[in-house]
Amino acid sequence: MHKTAMALGCAAILSACMNSETEQGAAAVAWTTLSGEPPIIIAHRGASAYLPGHTLEAYELGIDQGADYIEPDLVLTKDDVLICRHDRYLSITTDISDHAEFADRKTEKDGRNVWWAEDFTLAEIRTLRSREDYPHRSKAHDDQYAIPTFEEVIALAKRKSAETGRVIGINPEPKQSAQLAAIGKNIGAALVDELGKAGWQGADAPVIIQSFEVAVLKMLNRQVDVPLVQLTLSKTYFDETLPHESFIEIASIPDYADAVGPSRRLIVHEDGTVTDLVERAHKLGLEVHAWTLMGDQDSPDGLSPEDETRRMHDLGVDAVFVDDPAQAVRIRADRN
Ligand code: G3P
Ligand code: CA
Repeated sequence: MHKTAMALGCAAILSACMNSETEQGAAAVAWTTLSGEPPIIIAHRGASAYLPGHTLEAYELGIDQGADYIEPDLVLTKDDVLICRHDRYLSITTDISDHAEFADRKTEKDGRNVWWAEDFTLAEIRTLRSREDYPHRSKAHDDQYAIPTFEEVIALAKRKSAETGRVIGINPEPKQSAQLAAIGKNIGAALVDELGKAGWQGADAPVIIQSFEVAVLKMLNRQVDVPLVQLTLSKTYFDETLPHESFIEIASIPDYADAVGPSRRLIVHEDGTVTDLVERAHKLGLEVHAWTLMGDQDSPDGLSPEDETRRMHDLGVDAVFVDDPAQAVRIRADRN
């Protein structure tokens, strides 16, 4: 198992929190995370409540707001470069529909007749600009920011670490490795290679990798020593008649990963029922990395964003994916 990097990250956060609290004269905090240390704050797609997600600008804002890690979702270009997008299709989060030169490049895949990252070279991707995909968020920053490569995100984390004196981690999620394998692309290998170029494959690297896919996590467990997170969500996501429980058996995860990354609905159901997931995971030695605290929407059971964050703290969640890192950092610092 690969606890070292997460433990190092927690120690740095604890030190920062303790210094802050000591200056303010606040009482010591009792955290019920697995380590007993404050939860990690992961800027989900960057500070995505403020700027279009998966841009260098959103990642940097997340760091400036105090996030410990930034989260790039990854897909592959035609020339096998890792770029940061939540989806392989480019139609929603970029301005590609305005590029007449690409009008004849739409392709029907997965039931969508759109443009796909793996059909465009990096040079072509570089001509696109990002767009906000959540309807309730501002589009004021649309069509301004480029689509970054994973290499550029690593460089950003290293530069900001040097500038701030904080260890800024990355939390990459390779997307759709099985679908990419079916068309001859190996996103897991590309991720291992890029981490190798950065010197970030070891247990001391500020890297936590997450995926919904067991196979790619098992491959990564053999090839790198950074912590791994098995993402999961409720079976009801696929079929509302199925039980409201994880589609991955939690007890199987310690064989190949260090944490479970559940949807927040697996921690507290929509009716407010608190589950035993955190307790079960901790008994197995697994951290719990919960997604996603949006910061600008109430929880599914009706708590304000601030109170939902406080409840995650009360339940002992070890890391939170957040769209509003400033809010998450403030609430973590306020806990006493
Ligand atoms: O990776 C954690 C969380 O981000 C999973 O959801 O859809 O935002 O990648 P998604
Ligand atoms: Ca993600």
